[in-house]
Amino acid sequence: MTVRPILQLGDPALRVVAEPVDPTQIASPEVQQLVDDLIETMRDANGAGLAATQIGVHRRVVVMEVADNPRYPYKPRLPLTVAINPVIEPTADEMVVINEGCLSVPVRGDVPRHVHVRVRYLDRDGAEHDEVVRGLTAGTWQHECDHLDGVLIVDRADPASLSTWEEFDRHHRAAFVERITAFVERVGS
Ligand code: NI
Repeated sequence: MTVRPILQLGDPALRVVAEPVDPTQIASPEVQQLVDDLIETMRDANGAGLAATQIGVHRRVVVMEVADNPRYPYKPRLPLTVAINPVIEPTADEMVVINEGCLSVPVRGDVPRHVHVRVRYLDRDGAEHDEVVRGLTAGTWQHECDHLDGVLIVDRADPASLSTWEEFDRHHRAAFVERITAFVERVGS
């Protein structure tokens, strides 16, 4: 496992649409190494997710994980998930505005996300998954899959909501945590 540099906003490689992984190649050392590096890099950066695009690899692979984090008590736990060739599809019209950060973007912003989405993907063993996820977890899936299409939070965010992390903590965090905690209690997950 290797911690890889995370590309930053302005790097053209973040705008490339990633190619699917050939399912017959999932067991290959190349793909398995990519998965290991993504996990290691995400954990090293304390991120909730990371897409291969963010380390400059244009393959459709994302990893996600949310452990207990006292800094973000509103975030539901999400066990380590490796998704290869993920496809997401909203299953309802309901939207929620989530204040999101990104390891590739120096600011946070309010992004509208679908509350209920169906996700289909292959895991690192090549097994097929077909699940419905909701709430903040659904938001995380949409954020990571956006990266595979070269889309960043700054493209979707309300421009007036953009904030550095420091100013978010100072001016906006309390109200956001209050609103999103009530949302998580209502929607679950
Ligand atoms: Ni991101």
